[in-house]
Amino acid sequence: MAVATGHGCRICGGPVAEMLDLGRHPLSDAFPRPTELADEFFYRLALARCADCTMVQLVEEVPRERMFHHDYPYRSSLSAVMRAHFTATGRELLGTELTRPGAFCVELGANDGVMLRTVAKAGVRHLGFEPSAGVAELARRQGVRVSTTFFEEETAAGVLAADGPADVIYAANTVCHLPYLDSVLRGARLLLAPDGVFVFEDPYLGDILAKAAFDQIYDEHFYYFTAHSVRATAARFGLELVDVRRLPVHGGEVRYTLAHTGRRTPSAAVAELLREEQERGVTGAEALRRFAADVARTRQDLVTLLRSLREQGRTVAAYGATAKSATVTNYCGLGPELVAYVCDTTPAKQGRLTPGAHIPVRPPAAFADPYPDYALLFAWNHADEIMAKETGFRAAGGRWIHYVPTVCVR
Ligand code: SAH
Ligand code: TYD
Ligand code: ZN
Repeated sequence: MAVATGHGCRICGGPVAEMLDLGRHPLSDAFPRPTELADEFFYRLALARCADCTMVQLVEEVPRERMFHHDYPYRSSLSAVMRAHFTATGRELLGTELTRPGAFCVELGANDGVMLRTVAKAGVRHLGFEPSAGVAELARRQGVRVSTTFFEEETAAGVLAADGPADVIYAANTVCHLPYLDSVLRGARLLLAPDGVFVFEDPYLGDILAKAAFDQIYDEHFYYFTAHSVRATAARFGLELVDVRRLPVHGGEVRYTLAHTGRRTPSAAVAELLREEQERGVTGAEALRRFAADVARTRQDLVTLLRSLREQGRTVAAYGATAKSATVTNYCGLGPELVAYVCDTTPAKQGRLTPGAHIPVRPPAAFADPYPDYALLFAWNHADEIMAKETGFRAAGGRWIHYVPTVCVR
């Protein structure tokens, strides 16, 4: 099953083995208008693991300008839970790493300013990198200073020349998006002050495997990090993993803190997570083989359930036109005949069709008009927030369909 891809590891050049092939997929955040279906871009979505540094990575890379551009629709601020998370993050950075006069904070993937607005309001020097110009403009309206270039070695050097070294480089759900991580880490090392920290949080491979959350795999998620793979990668670029913290957001993430090698003593949490990964076999090939079997089972169960509901004449819609759901619909072959429409708060997705599967996207107000019999929860990582808002659905007899960690109806 494990087939060498012919390409070396994107990080260390070591031998990679292909572990899971999910087939042909469209861009996960490209929501076509009904007139644009002929122009959809497809690539092969497959996962590989490096035998040397253990980094799990995609086999094919989508050119970054195809994913991140003026019309990139994802907006970080649409979730109240995520707004609170990033406000707390901004406050924590202000109270710890950004206390010296003239402190400087750089963020990669600033999006609509959800984190940096807290730093900006405190009057602290900052710069957000956000190449998707539409969402970058929303950040500017929040008083955030933004560069619409891609962060990498060259643009990092430009910031160093113009603004001086950074005390904090922060990135949420962005570092794992960057196949050219070598250039990003060279840039971070260059830009980071001698005692500065590079803090980034991304979906954690340990949680993805434990929950069989195969929908975390899509074009934008190029890397699937563990403490082991991040530590090994950082070390190649003169950086050291000095802290880790597990986060409950987005289905389970880890916040990694890197510093210049030798400048900070690694916390006990680093050793603990490394040990846990070893014990659970998170970094090995066998865990990915088990995952592949879990994923195939989920597809089978979900498709069987949705077909039987259709045969019974039940109506099924979905909730949350997530990027993740592009993997679910395209891997499982779910189109409008099985899932009639999907409700979502993102203005730029409404009135469009989901990538590849072409399920119409409607505003959340359409959910109750009338309620479907069943709702497939694509935004499962926001379940608490959505359940709290949509109490009327279950009260009216509606049932939620979950598929993480296994398919169930509640
Ligand atoms: N940090 C936000 C947004 C994550 S989405 C959050 O956690 O919700 C990832 C963002 O990274 C997108 O807005 C995308 O445009 C941006 N991005 C992509 N490549 C980048 C790069 N090289 N440098 C900085 N931002 C980048
Ligand atoms: P998210 O899971 O944050 O990320 P991704 O697109 O990377 O998988 O996306 C959440 C989507 O769900 C987003 O399109 C907005 C939508 N949404 C709602 O429609 N209602 C809600 O209450 C929340 C929290 C999100
Ligand atoms: Zn490697």
